[in-house]
Order: sequence, then structure tokens, then C-alpha cells
Amino acid sequence: MLEPAARARAVAPFQVMRILERAQALEAAGRDIIHLEVGEPRFPMPELLLEAARHALTSAPMGYTPSPGLPALRRAIASHYGRRYGIALDPARVIVTPGGSGALQLALAASVAVGDRVMVAEPGYPCHRHIAALTGAEVYALTLSAAAGWRPTVAGMRATWQAGTRAFVFASPGNPTGVVLEPAEIAALYDAVRERGGGLVVDETYQGLVYDATDTTALAAGDDGLFVVNSFSKYFGLTGWRLGWLVVPPGWPPIVERLAQNLFLAAPTLSQHVATAALSPDVLALLERRRDMLRRRRDLLLAVLPQLGFSLPTTPAGAFYVFAALPPEALDAPAFAVSLLDAAGVAVAPGVDFGGAQAARMLRLAYTEDESRLREACNRVAAFSYGG
Ligand SMILES: Cc1ncc(COP(=O)(O)O)c(C=O)c1O
Repeated sequence: MLEPAARARAVAPFQVMRILERAQALEAAGRDIIHLEVGEPRFPMPELLLEAARHALTSAPMGYTPSPGLPALRRAIASHYGRRYGIALDPARVIVTPGGSGALQLALAASVAVGDRVMVAEPGYPCHRHIAALTGAEVYALTLSAAAGWRPTVAGMRATWQAGTRAFVFASPGNPTGVVLEPAEIAALYDAVRERGGGLVVDETYQGLVYDATDTTALAAGDDGLFVVNSFSKYFGLTGWRLGWLVVPPGWPPIVERLAQNLFLAAPTLSQHVATAALSPDVLALLERRRDMLRRRRDLLLAVLPQLGFSLPTTPAGAFYVFAALPPEALDAPAFAVSLLDAAGVAVAPGVDFGGAQAARMLRLAYTEDESRLREACNRVAAFSYGG
């Protein structure tokens, strides 16, 4: 029998998928489940974007677009950096991809060779490790500490750095931590990594979802050796449209375009038209109102979770996650997540998926449900933790 490749076998399964499947089975059996386990905004599609989709379907060709994306979309993304972040970006450096996932694959395929080393921040988004490993790189963790508020620091990076490291991958705003690095912290990491001859892959998939920190981009730090990953899934709420982008260093577009041609030919055409409309001022104004709603939901969880015995090593300033430590008397996170789901109908993600030192005691809660459902979730957790 043909065996799957060792690199494919080495990709660890997500615990959260077990929770999701169990939650769906309970729902199918008639239970009311509150979903705090998946990182997916649940806002309805804005009417302006539905209109843009209908218009494109009837007026634009739906064949392949150029591999790096529709020129109008690449220009719109570059102008967005100018207007919102004060960065003058050449649209030629923007490669449109199938989700931030496609951008991560391109960045790592373009910059890492078999046997190179890649450093990933943990707790972090598990695909960083997995995609880097699929390139044949040896992956190791920069373990973030709760005491340092889960922030990657230059000192930590220097102490952990191994010879032969080609790339350092981290996300800001972070998943699962919600930590948002300030421009000066990113600049210091950028300088320190470049000093050692490494590149950076900065995952800004949650850019724009920032509540009380600076909404920024690593592009403010420089452009040499820096790949910036972004997505229309989170701030723009377009998960199923599978669209993201990668900003590559000057000089890199030709090679990255060749990789894009070979890996996925082009990103979905209809989605690219919708994404171009998503960058218009009217849609951005609506997304800003949604950001305010998310901030209120976050504040609700921040107020209630400590009363339920959870501790938060740091206040998450961005994304839509709270990464909370379980009360000492609780079971380990995977077992706790299963019994909370079965007993109370609240689905959460166990921290083990994200790696890191205290993973077995951590839970990630996504505040993608509305405020009344979040309140109900908190009531259910209270009843569960305290003898329910
Ligand atoms: C940090 C981070 N990067 C990238 C992604 C990929 O998302 P998408 O491919 O939908 O853009 C996710 C999804 O949850 C994420 O959390």
C-alpha cells in the first residue's frame, strides 16, 4: 500500500476540529450550541458587496485573472496602505492569493529551502509551523511567555535564534493571543532579524481588528527581507471568498508570480471583484462600525471571565480572541473543552492547538457571536464551573 509522505503525516491534527465536529453532532441532535471555537466573523455580507458580486457576474469576464491578481485590486490594496497606514507601496509588490493561507504558502515557498531553519512564535497560528515544515525546513519555536504578555521580544529572539534560520514567522495581531505589537517593537524585531541575515514573514491577517493599540503594518519597519501576509477573511469578514494577499520585498515579484502560477494559477475571479469593492470608503466605514461591536464583545468577556475564575495574562488588544488560563481546579484544557461542550453547550478551542509552554491550561474563546449569545455563554460557563 502507498504510504502518505512523512512530511504530510507530520502535520498535526487540530483539536478544535474534534470540538467542532462534536458541536455539530450535538446541534444535529437538537441541542443549542454557542460557538466560540472557530475564528470566523458571523456578520452578514454587506449589501454593497452583494451588489458588487451581482454586478461583476453580469458584466465582467469570469475566466482566470492574471496570476498576481486583478490590476485594479492590486492598486486598491496598495492605496489602502497609503490612506490608512501612510505607506507608499508599489502595487507590483502586491500578489493576490487564495486567502492569507495562500500568501503564507507563497512567502515560505519563495524564501525557504530544504534544510533551512524557520522560527515560529508560539503560542501561534498552527499553520505557520505546518506550512514551513512542508517546505522541508526544520521548524523551531520562539516560546512566548505569559509573564511577558505573549509578546515576542528581541532578547527572546536572540536567545532562541539558531544558525541557518531563514525566516521568523509571527502574527500581529496575534492568534490566539490577540496581542498587537507596537510599531517600535516590530521595527526592533525587523532590525534584529535582518542583522542576522534572516527574513521575516509577518502575518497581518487580523490587521484592522485593533481596539486599544496602534493599528499598523510591519511595512513601516522596512521592506528588505520582509513578507507581509494579509487576508480578506477577518476584518473584511469574507472567509468563504478565499482571498488574501502577500506583499513581497522589492525585486521578488517575478519569482513569487511564477510560484503563484504553478501553485494556484490565480485567486478566484469573482472574489477579486468583491474584494476591490470591499476597499471602498463606504464599506470600510461599515467595517469600522463592526470593529466597535467587536470591541464591546471583547470588553464583556474581559469583565466576566475573571469573575468565573479564568485568568488573562494580558489584555488582548486585537483580533477577536481571548486567550484565557483555566482556573487551577479545572481539568486540562482538552478535557475541559469536551465536558463544557457536552454539559453546557459552549464550544471553545483548547490551547494545545497553538503550542507554547502553558498550552494545556489555556482556552481560546472567539467573540464572533453577538453580545446576547456571549452573555448566555458566560452564564452557562458559570453554571458549569460552579457545580452546574
Ligand atoms: C493568523 C492567521 N493567519 C492566516 C489565517 C488564514 O486565513 P485565511 O486563509 O482565511 O485568510 C488565519 C485563519 O484563521 C489566521 O488566524
